[in-house]
Amino acid sequence: MKKYLICGALTLLAAFQPLRADEGMWLPMLISQRIEDMQAHGFRLTAEDVYSVNQASLKDAVVLFGSGCTGEVVSREGLLFTNHHCGYGQIQQHSSVEHDYLKDGFWAMNRSEELPNPGLTVSFLERMDEVTDAVLKGYVPTMSEAQRDSVVKANSDVIVRQLTDPDKGVRASVEALYYANQYFLFVYKVYRDVRLVGAPPSSIGKFGGDTDNWMWPRHTGDFSIFRIYADKNNEPSDYSEDNIPYTPKRFFTVSRAGVKEGDFTFVYGCPGSTKEYVISDEVRYVGEISDPQKIALRTQRLDIQKKYMSQDQAVRIQYSSKNAGVSNAWKKWQGEEKGIARLKTVAAKQDFERRFSVWAAGTRYEGLVERLHELYAQREPVYRAYEYYTETVRTVELLQFASNVASALQGGRPVDALAEIFYKDYFQPIDEEIFVAMLEAYDRQMNPGYKPAFFREKLASYGSVEAWRDDLFSKSLFTDRARVLALKEADLEAVKADPAYALYDAFYQWYREDIQPVITRLDRDIRLAYRDYMRAQMEFEPDKDFYPDANLTLRVAYGHVAGYSPSDAIYYAPVSTLMGIMEKDNPDIFDYDIPQALRDIYAEGGHDGQPVCFLATNHTSGGNSGSPVINADGNLIGINFDRVWEGTMSDLVFDPDYCRNISLDIRYLLFVTKEIGHADWLFDEMVFAD
Ligand code: ARG
Ligand code: ASP
Repeated sequence: MKKYLICGALTLLAAFQPLRADEGMWLPMLISQRIEDMQAHGFRLTAEDVYSVNQASLKDAVVLFGSGCTGEVVSREGLLFTNHHCGYGQIQQHSSVEHDYLKDGFWAMNRSEELPNPGLTVSFLERMDEVTDAVLKGYVPTMSEAQRDSVVKANSDVIVRQLTDPDKGVRASVEALYYANQYFLFVYKVYRDVRLVGAPPSSIGKFGGDTDNWMWPRHTGDFSIFRIYADKNNEPSDYSEDNIPYTPKRFFTVSRAGVKEGDFTFVYGCPGSTKEYVISDEVRYVGEISDPQKIALRTQRLDIQKKYMSQDQAVRIQYSSKNAGVSNAWKKWQGEEKGIARLKTVAAKQDFERRFSVWAAGTRYEGLVERLHELYAQREPVYRAYEYYTETVRTVELLQFASNVASALQGGRPVDALAEIFYKDYFQPIDEEIFVAMLEAYDRQMNPGYKPAFFREKLASYGSVEAWRDDLFSKSLFTDRARVLALKEADLEAVKADPAYALYDAFYQWYREDIQPVITRLDRDIRLAYRDYMRAQMEFEPDKDFYPDANLTLRVAYGHVAGYSPSDAIYYAPVSTLMGIMEKDNPDIFDYDIPQALRDIYAEGGHDGQPVCFLATNHTSGGNSGSPVINADGNLIGINFDRVWEGTMSDLVFDPDYCRNISLDIRYLLFVTKEIGHADWLFDEMVFAD
């Protein structure tokens, strides 16, 4: 397999190619195969500097932050940077009416003020190894797929068990890459005393809110600061007052030299999920069916939420986080849909598949694409119904709450905590309106074959979704906090008879019995076919460099600082400044209302050119938030936090003209920490390159 990954012709080609935006999320362990290209683009370090198991390397300064973001160590005393939106949950947990750190920011003024966060971990990658042979030991080609799966599982379990050492915080996992054509072992050291050190006010850390999310020009100060603590031997430990700051093997030196168009950039982090090698049917499904249908449903929900949020400040606060969650993917999908259409990815893939099939004739890959077409044809209506169900019925808050309460009662758990969280942020008129909009959409859009009998019968008996709503919301006990708080285990039957629970459960049973098994079976067959298709693509295009799809393991993406043209006659420059914040500043618009302190500092003068964010061509995805952005000398110049929406199809297909990652300029972090937080004591432990 390895031979396909070696890029023989690359150095030769690079000499004739202009500086090109680089697609790819490369495995650090195999970075020696890319290093010449990286160096040709300006990088001045070696492969061993990037990843090594024999000496400290940059990988030792990068962590998986929690279970979905990235972070970087920036001092020999365990100081860590990530995004504000990655530390948001922790900042929120420490916030109360008296200490609203989300609103006002939080700055420890010394180590004793740093705040512990039970449950939060950071994971360092100790090493990775290819373990394909060990994982497939005992497998023979005459075995069935089920037998192969058991071999893989048994061998992987042995490897993982041998290496796992909870006392030392060592976690191991075996991951299938290239659709299970190769297996890699990842060994992590997990630290679990991670304390909050600093966070700007949300009006800086989330400046622009959902209005600017996925957009350029961007001015979000999206950072937060943590510190990793260890026991006296520098080993992972639960929180303890006796713990001391963790001494890393390696940390990033910070560059204040700044960035300009064309500069080499390198993002080291943990992208979550991409699908670059799928057939045209998958892309067509995403771009022409899934994205449009989900966008339309979410547009309705967002409109309903916004209508009530704009009428009442309390409702705005209640729904701001929910609204942000709905809108984040909604905006991303719009870019994805447009990007797929603009690039004509479906036609391009179909063309590829035609050429592939000609090549495959007479080989063991003959008929493979046709088999995938066939599987997708079977999967499409079921999957569409599944997605429709999750984006409609499952979004009615009361139904979900009814189910959560029922499981709590069933499991003998108290309901009061659940109820407190639910009612604190529940506004029934929004939920009622969403109920009507979503159930009507379901009725309109789904074939009768995908409507649970309960749904058809109830709707027929009520005559309209509105009549159903009136009845359900007036009769359900879940609209009444006192009744919910009084519930006991013995009330489980009554809860199950409740109209909100009954509706939730009817759909859920239908999903479990009619939908899920079909999807599980087809997904398994599709994955299996992709194992062949992936290998076949590598044989079909032996000179192409294939990087494995993202799976939250550590990756290297490199590119350069670059603007882009989103549409005719517009060119976006790649660097934004404080001046842009002042242009947007407006106390009447929540997303653009900056702290008075920032206005005052600006008024002093001399800060017009203060850099805030920059664009680059690095191939990133969800999970790369918080990733270190590194310059040609390996120094930290920024923190990745987003992409531009015109380029979000990069999870399926990368377009060098439109795909840009958005990073916070590290100098803005320094500026805010000093000028707003007055926490420049932190700079003493950092090392600056210039
Ligand atoms: N779009 C970024 C990422 O996917 C940041 C999201 C957080 N910010 C927000 N305004 N919702 O996750
Ligand atoms: N904002 C994303 C994250 O949270 C990054 C991206 O999708 O580009 O990981």
